[in-house]
Amino acid sequence: MSFDVNAIRADFPILSRMVNNKPLIYLDNGASSQKPQVVIDAINTAYSHEYANVHRGLHYLSNLATEKYEAVRGTVAKFLNVADENDIIMNSGTTEGINMVAYGWAMNVMKPGDEIVLSVMEHHANIVPWHFLRERFGIVLKWVDIDENGVLDPEAMLDAITPRTKLIAVTHMSNVLGSIVDVKSICVGARAKGVPVLVDGSQGAVHMPVDVGDIGCDFYAITGHKLCGPSGSGAIYVSKDRQSEMRPFIGGGDMIREVHKDQVIYNDVPHLFEAGTPGIVQTIGLGVALNYMMDIGMDQIAAHEKAITQYASAQLGGLNWLKVQGSAPERGAIFSFTMDGAAHAHDISTILDKKGIAVRAGQHCAGPLMDHLGIHASCRASFAFYNTLEEVDALVDGLRLANDLFG
Ligand code: ALA
Repeated sequence: MSFDVNAIRADFPILSRMVNNKPLIYLDNGASSQKPQVVIDAINTAYSHEYANVHRGLHYLSNLATEKYEAVRGTVAKFLNVADENDIIMNSGTTEGINMVAYGWAMNVMKPGDEIVLSVMEHHANIVPWHFLRERFGIVLKWVDIDENGVLDPEAMLDAITPRTKLIAVTHMSNVLGSIVDVKSICVGARAKGVPVLVDGSQGAVHMPVDVGDIGCDFYAITGHKLCGPSGSGAIYVSKDRQSEMRPFIGGGDMIREVHKDQVIYNDVPHLFEAGTPGIVQTIGLGVALNYMMDIGMDQIAAHEKAITQYASAQLGGLNWLKVQGSAPERGAIFSFTMDGAAHAHDISTILDKKGIAVRAGQHCAGPLMDHLGIHASCRASFAFYNTLEEVDALVDGLRLANDLFG
């Protein structure tokens, strides 16, 4: 299929709405993506015609809902190029996935004084669960800096490994700088030293094809709402070696075979790690969203976004009163910036909003990175495959206006 951005835009009803009497220009995809009509229809159909609880009933609707829900496991496996779909645990998103690894795996294998290596550009979802382990169990967090361009050197991550290191937890793509991390090199080096790697794919999986087998990580977490799916959907790949070391984090129905007064007999993986009634319709919607993106082609998506990245880099780089944070050679279409003069990130975003342009302003759930950059807040324009070069131009016009007013 050839990539036709206008045809793709027509799949997203919200992209034709007006905001503040201007056509919406949605550049807040790092926070959450918009949803194509097929996903909206799938949610409607699931609730209107196909809804019941999963894994429990012997009746028609329960079997139908179970089939639809379970099929998504295979879709996620295909999306991440995972050979065995039973290595995919469905959940509500990356935050739940990483908390599951922290409580279910790390707490089971780590002792006080053991270390976790993190980069300074992690999202809070890949920081705060590890802080819990630091606060509660004496786990040591070791931070690795990025260079002045926002590049994370895989060797620096590997150099931080000591005999006490039990995990490297690293993003595939910074949600602030757009830097793409060479996670494969990290995994190759970490494996040689016997250290597992968790990759936060919240942003990476949205913008490029992901091949978990090739990367060689132990955990790869994705979140549905950034992948054109419903909020409250997501998944995590867990390698078989790590599954064997992991205990369930949440107990309840579905993850058990038998429960007695003095004994529990557990279900098999992946159900062992999916306690309670899951996000049934959210997950069904995620499956439709991933199939939609795979039908367009993740290579095509990456190529279109590369064109946006190059164009936006040139246009934003030409504004000498704008400071764009990060300029990694391998980067995606996420641009964070501050403005010389008095304009606060919130002011810039308010001016842009008046023009119908949605961006995020603040810390972007990345406190340690903000400390590293020495700023309190930035404005972030994060693009998706349905954005256009004309929207980059509109952003630049809006920034010029903000600079005229506040600069
Ligand atoms: N993780 C989301 C972001 O980066 C919320 O904006």
